[in-house]
Amino acid sequence: MVRYCAACHGLDGAGRDAETPNIAGQSGIYLRRQLDAFRSGRRRHPLMRRNVESLTEREIGQIVTHFSLLPAR
Ligand code: HEC
Repeated sequence: MVRYCAACHGLDGAGRDAETPNIAGQSGIYLRRQLDAFRSGRRRHPLMRRNVESLTEREIGQIVTHFSLLPAR
């Protein structure tokens, strides 16, 4: 699952281009809120919405844990 995010955010959580934010080392609470917001459409971004739409709660939990524990970039 993390691999899927890595296409844009990098396995190390460092964004691959200027449009893609670094997510490594961000607080787990913050990441979780953003993913929930993309999913509900509260935070508008068609691409990220599509990316999180199909994830289960468990997968989101694992992904958030992965990126929040990486050293910040
Ligand atoms: C196709 C490229 C792409 C993929 C794949 C992708 N993202 Fe993103 N992501 C983006 C872009 C672009 C933004 C910036 C959105 C904006 O400008 O609001 C973003 C924003 C985010 C943010 C908000 C960061 C912040 O600083 O507020 C988080 C968190 C995030 N992505 C997590 C993920 C996770 C987790 C996955 C895998 C399930 C994922 N992304 C897959 C392109 C991608």
